[in-house]
Amino acid sequence: MTMRHRRVLRTLSVAGALLGALALSSCGGGDSGTPASGGSAQTGGAWIWALPAGFPTPAVPASNPMSAAKVDLGRHLFYDKRLSGNGQQACAGCHLQDKAFTDGVAVSRGSTGEFTARNAQPLGNVAYNPLLTWANPSLLVLERQMEVPLFGENPIEMGINESNKAAVLHRLADAAAYKDKFAAAFPGEADPVSWPNVIKAIAAFQRSLISGNSRYDQMLVGTAAFTPAEQRGRELFFGDQAGCSRCHNGFNFNDQVVDAATVAVSTPFHNIGLYNVGGTGAYPEPNRGVMELSGLFKDMGAFRAPSLRNVAVTAPYMHDGSVATLEEVVDIFAEGGRNVPSGPYAGDGRLNPYKSALIRPLGLTAQDKADLVAFLRTLTDTRFLTDPRHADPFKAP
Ligand code: HEC
Ligand code: HEC
Repeated sequence: MTMRHRRVLRTLSVAGALLGALALSSCGGGDSGTPASGGSAQTGGAWIWALPAGFPTPAVPASNPMSAAKVDLGRHLFYDKRLSGNGQQACAGCHLQDKAFTDGVAVSRGSTGEFTARNAQPLGNVAYNPLLTWANPSLLVLERQMEVPLFGENPIEMGINESNKAAVLHRLADAAAYKDKFAAAFPGEADPVSWPNVIKAIAAFQRSLISGNSRYDQMLVGTAAFTPAEQRGRELFFGDQAGCSRCHNGFNFNDQVVDAATVAVSTPFHNIGLYNVGGTGAYPEPNRGVMELSGLFKDMGAFRAPSLRNVAVTAPYMHDGSVATLEEVVDIFAEGGRNVPSGPYAGDGRLNPYKSALIRPLGLTAQDKADLVAFLRTLTDTRFLTDPRHADPFKAP
């Protein structure tokens, strides 16, 4: 049995339903031949993906086809604090472009001061995620996920509720910035300023956030060369000894991917031995992974393997932001988990009974670990982090 077969595989029972909801919309072909261009282009109304080499065409729900006008509207809404109950918070408040749309803190603060339980996730290539957030097997599409930050009350993020919902829409309808934008994005609709359309536009903007122009990508197509350390790190990453690519693989360096041609999707979750509170195998509440929803102990501490694209700018790391640096992340994997020596969460995560069989002491030297970190740093796509098409439209360029 190969290592790949031994990993925890949860096959999505609703895969059929998901794929039924997804269909190719007005998308052009995949790779245009220009290497690693990233993002997308637009000609004559139809949306044309201009994808980096090796990137498949994203799946787009038939009910929300891509268009340049919709992406433009979504970008404005994403950066607009008026889209929160008290006018204090934008999506971009927790998803900052220069940090690959993360926010640099362990857990984030919502519009009314409440903290999220988990670390804000990067949004690059989010179009390819078949499941959203760290450990929720039931959040299948961006349009549904967005209801959490917009309307969620535990914790409050954007703080929109029944009593301010209409007022927030009026605020948008009255704003000069949106004059004509809703009508352009949703042509022919009598009343285009609506919550479903707000959600569709932001989802379209998020699907346009494609990142595939890192030095790693340039190395693959021969336009950049690796240093010896980066090359050694690459071999370790994809090799048997470190085995990182058993969970961080493919063009997006993760193991859950959906694209326009997907017929079956696998959605594994893994416990990597970060905690073992009191030796019981427990992770601290409310961050016990898929178990929070399934109630099953076998799902204790099981989280989604994140994409590692742009990982050098997304610190702190892990579902709860409890690891500060890439060096520490690699140390934890090298040890086969994390020992928490003291405090309320004391316990040796390396001995967690629910840990993935793939997480074990790797026998890496200090040089190996430094090489792995050097490789991870090649995954930064500077153009994506500064691309004006993804930037705050309310700021002068
Ligand atoms: C208060 C901070 C905060 C705000 C505001 C916020 N987010 Fe997030 N976002 C997070 C956190 C934290 C997570 C991880 C959630 C989890 O796993 O429970 C997340 C996760 C996501 C994900 C899942 C990404 C993935 O790879 O699965 C998407 C998509 C997303 N946010 C989009 C948005 C949008 C769109 C908005 C605005 C409507 C928004 N967020 C507002 C903090 C925030
Ligand atoms: C068994 C699957 C698996 C293997 C093997 C694995 N990882 Fe991970 N990795 C994960 C999961 C799952 C997480 C998130 C865990 C959590 O938050 O509880 C993660 C998190 C990370 C993070 C933090 C990313 C972020 O945005 O927070 C980095 C960096 C990382 N892994 C690098 C590596 C490296 C380097 C290796 C090889 C030494 C490796 N991983 C091997 C599954 C794996």
